[in-house]
Amino acid sequence: MKILVTGGAGFIGSAVCRYLVQELGHCVVNLDKLTYAANLSSLAEIENNPLYAFEKVDICDRLELDRVFSSHQPDAVMHLAAESHVDRSITGAGEFIQTNVVGTMTMLEASRAYLAACTQNVAKAFRFLHVSTDEVYGELGETGLFSETTPYDPSSPYSASKAASDHLAKAWARTYDMPIVVSNCSNNYGPFHFPEKLIPLMILNALHGKDLPVYGDGSNVRDWLYVDDHARALFMILTKGRIGETYNVGGQNERTNLQVVERICSLVDELAAPLASGSRKDLIRFVQDRPGHDARYAIDAEKLRSELGWVAQENFESGLRKTVQWYLDHEAWWRPIIEHNYQGERLGLTKT
Ligand code: NAD
Ligand code: TYD
Repeated sequence: MKILVTGGAGFIGSAVCRYLVQELGHCVVNLDKLTYAANLSSLAEIENNPLYAFEKVDICDRLELDRVFSSHQPDAVMHLAAESHVDRSITGAGEFIQTNVVGTMTMLEASRAYLAACTQNVAKAFRFLHVSTDEVYGELGETGLFSETTPYDPSSPYSASKAASDHLAKAWARTYDMPIVVSNCSNNYGPFHFPEKLIPLMILNALHGKDLPVYGDGSNVRDWLYVDDHARALFMILTKGRIGETYNVGGQNERTNLQVVERICSLVDELAAPLASGSRKDLIRFVQDRPGHDARYAIDAEKLRSELGWVAQENFESGLRKTVQWYLDHEAWWRPIIEHNYQGERLGLTKT
């Protein structure tokens, strides 16, 4: 297959590109605007592979999208390009609406025009996978799980923009009869994760003996999934998922934020040079909560398991250990980011 991956220079998109090229031997066209969150060095393993091509394009640029579709003639689209950080969306929502909403609509329209122009055989096999988040469902209380039929109730500008994009994808499937599938996944973690997100931020701060800022009292729960398990699920949904359907993806790894940070402290204490001042758990600081902070996310991925046979290969303990070790071994990847792009400053507080 030749697959057009949008956002392939980001955290999950780069894992998808590596998986498609290295493990499955498919052709990939990575279309990415290269925002602050992108990193072409995450693709170093495949950048010279003849199966891989890169296009620096903004998904809001219809003319450029038309050019990419007509020159590469993809068999499928995996649409991951997005502004993805909740805290940044609280500071400024504009880019989120532009990329996640307007950009998704532009991708859908460019795909529709491409489908109208291509041969019947290509059109019949074509699929568009819209990649989204479980945050569109809002927050859970102490019990219950998000299923594919949970009503949308987004809390943050980020999740609201993703919810809008999901509705657009589903509307384009119904109105224009387009072969679209939607996935909603829980929090990912793993190698090549930009260090503004909880897990990589805590690993690097712990390594450097810096404070570990836990929002509120640390009791918020996230359901963590190793990024390569997500990449495998996405390809399965793209190729085997039923058109017009939604599939939830999640790893049954619920943890409070405090549990996650404490486990990272133990792993860094074990795997890196010890801190003169003692255990890294002493670096934990409870800081002002995120506005609109969702209490708990947890996914019911039964549909994906029973219909498509997906199972996660990594559990949280094995995945987190691998991730900490990866950051310890890959300073060349994160050093330029913390020196030039992001120094760990607090994002997403509204003025009081
Ligand atoms: P990321 O922020 O690491 O990467 C996003 C990529 O999209 C970057 O390479 C960026 O340059 C690119 N991009 C942004 N705006 C663009 C534009 N206008 N045109 C072209 N490219 C653009 O994000 P991620 O964590 O890899 O998430 C990827 C997708 O998966 C997103 O759609 C996100 O909503 C979804 N998702 C993420 C998680 C998670 O835990 N990270 C969980 C579920 C779903
Ligand atoms: P994050 O990685 O931003 O993902 P999301 O907001 O999409 O779930 O945050 C994960 C959780 O960690 C979330 O409950 C907010 C919390 N958090 C902290 O406690 N401290 C931090 O410094 C960050 C970045 C997040």
